[in-house]
Amino acid sequence: MKDYRIAVVGGDGIGPEVVREGLRALEALASFHGFKCRFQHYPFGANHYLKTRELMPPAAVAEMREMDAIFLGAIGDPRVEVGLLERAIVGGLRFELDLYVNLRPIRLYAEHLCPLKNKRPQDINLLVVRENTEDLYTGMGGFFKKGTPDEVSIQEMICTRKGTERVIRYAFEKARARGKARPRLTLVDKANAIRAHDLWTRTFEEVGREYQDVEKDHAYVDACAMWMIRSPEWFDVVVTTNMFGDIITDLGAMLQGGMGIAASGNIHPGRVSMFEPIHGSAPKYAGKNTANPLAAISAAQMMLDYLGEKESAKTLEKAIETLLVTRKIPSVGAESGLSTSAIGDLVIQEVQKPAA
Ligand code: IPM
Ligand code: MN
Repeated sequence: MKDYRIAVVGGDGIGPEVVREGLRALEALASFHGFKCRFQHYPFGANHYLKTRELMPPAAVAEMREMDAIFLGAIGDPRVEVGLLERAIVGGLRFELDLYVNLRPIRLYAEHLCPLKNKRPQDINLLVVRENTEDLYTGMGGFFKKGTPDEVSIQEMICTRKGTERVIRYAFEKARARGKARPRLTLVDKANAIRAHDLWTRTFEEVGREYQDVEKDHAYVDACAMWMIRSPEWFDVVVTTNMFGDIITDLGAMLQGGMGIAASGNIHPGRVSMFEPIHGSAPKYAGKNTANPLAAISAAQMMLDYLGEKESAKTLEKAIETLLVTRKIPSVGAESGLSTSAIGDLVIQEVQKPAA
């Protein structure tokens, strides 16, 4: 029997409660499909930091490196300096484990969830491949004469040939693997204003020669935001930089119905990878059992797929879809009228139904 070791970081705010539901779904699927999950819980996040001053100790990262996957809730707390926890824990794991792909599927499960008029599930089904280890996120930069009228602040936007090439290659492979008759990969950058992005233009073209079967497409990021609202059906797979990927995937989450359903995988193919909802810690809702756990449950679904438990992943995705289409879960927000655990219960019941 397959036996997966999974590191669990519930984190801050609503993180622990949505993760709890993700783990319950995983356990239900494991017993149903005959594999095992062993969870190792880590306390990292605001409370732990305020108590111990510890953020993300190297020994824990070393342990996680040997596991099969990491399941993360949400990180961020208003009691702690802006960005400190996020950079150390979310960023720390992404960088230390070299999780160079941030995979963000944008899929509309039920028409009524979409804020756009006349868009159906088949119109909103794109996959954003966000670079995850470079760009404005490396922390290179700083302040000069901080707090004075002459202050200078700099943050470098780093792109390397290696980092650009590997994520573009991954995106081409994904485009192929989706099995469409004519796959399309859209490169999203800002090469007209940011000339450093010429590296992306050239790399895309060079790597693209190996993928004659994939249609190459390009959009500047501002136009991409416009097209995602106007004609989301145009997009198949999108590859983009870290910062732009961050922004357009929040936009994408709204096309799906909201942050309450959007999930992501931080991936280094063949190595331990990390799965998380893309929403934040929402401290206002913490501990109230009202947060919608579907994004975390979707992250669990992506994790199953990554681990190779394809049947389980499909079953779980189908369950989420059915519950939304039938409006047994009427919305993906905190206003669904269902508690966090009640939504978890519905998902578990649904995955345990024999296939029709
Ligand atoms: C995300 C988040 C993070 C990011 C934050 C928490 C640093 O917004 O995963 O999209 O900007 O990558
Ligand atoms: Mn984000």
